[in-house]
Amino acid sequence: MARIELKSAEELRWMREAGLVVASIHEALRAAVAPGITTRELDEVSAAAIADSGATSNFLGYYDYPATVCISVNDVIVHGIPGDTELAAGDIVSFDCGAYVERRGRQWHGDAAFSVIVGDSFLSDEEFASGVRASGSLPGVDDNVLRERRQLDALTRESLWAALAALATGKRISAVGSAVEEVVARHGEINGWEAGIVEEFVGHGIGTSMHMPPDVLNYRVRGIQARLKPGMVLAVEPMLVRGDIASITDDDEWTVRTADGLDAAHWEHSIAITEDGVSVLTARDSGAAGLAPYGVTPVCLD
Ligand code: MF3
Ligand code: CO
Repeated sequence: MARIELKSAEELRWMREAGLVVASIHEALRAAVAPGITTRELDEVSAAAIADSGATSNFLGYYDYPATVCISVNDVIVHGIPGDTELAAGDIVSFDCGAYVERRGRQWHGDAAFSVIVGDSFLSDEEFASGVRASGSLPGVDDNVLRERRQLDALTRESLWAALAALATGKRISAVGSAVEEVVARHGEINGWEAGIVEEFVGHGIGTSMHMPPDVLNYRVRGIQARLKPGMVLAVEPMLVRGDIASITDDDEWTVRTADGLDAAHWEHSIAITEDGVSVLTARDSGAAGLAPYGVTPVCLD
């Protein structure tokens, strides 16, 4: 297994700075999402938030990726490129973005993603953790489609927090896959349909680059995985789909969609493992609200 970068306490504070930039981009995007806005306009919102923070986009120019954020609408699982697409009420949309700060001649990266249903008010982590869920109809949106999109979004969000909490209490990186599978199975019973866990794209280590060892799988596999160690930072990012996990990539060589055309959701945070516990670097409150239902109190690095 390739070497996993272990960060010092000082380096974790720099990664927290990058994480807070990502939190700010997310806040700006959430405030701007509305029916009729184009995904290109939302990329401009993201670019402005990064510039305001004095940080640099790690997406723009990554293998020639042309924007600061991936915006993935409905059947797009990941890597949707901002453009002329106008968001409509009821769309399930994920926003994945990141930034780095430069300290002592090296880059320190943050990476996180969230999903929204356009037209629903965004639930804070406090609200989500205490069980608040969107309800009611949206104009022009089929109630059954809307119900399943809300279920898909909520179970993906819950699977992320369950996985982050499992890293606080678990011994190995495999805690993530076990937690995601448990949430998916439980919601399958509740909802009467079971989400698919995308396997082609996985989480990753993060630090002086955006993508580093180890892979962080969202599903169980045979074989032993790396032991969690203080100084590790992982980007945990479950991608769940309404139907089959098979995907296809558009001619733009980025946009990844479900082959069956059914919906997808994506949630991600970067999380540090420390001597004293975990810290969710890309959550403004270090993950306090999201982890509370699991009895986990995060370390605050601010
Ligand atoms: N941030 C994505 C991930 O979560 C990767 C995006 S690649 C980019 O790992 F080119 F779109 F930036
Ligand atoms: Co990532």
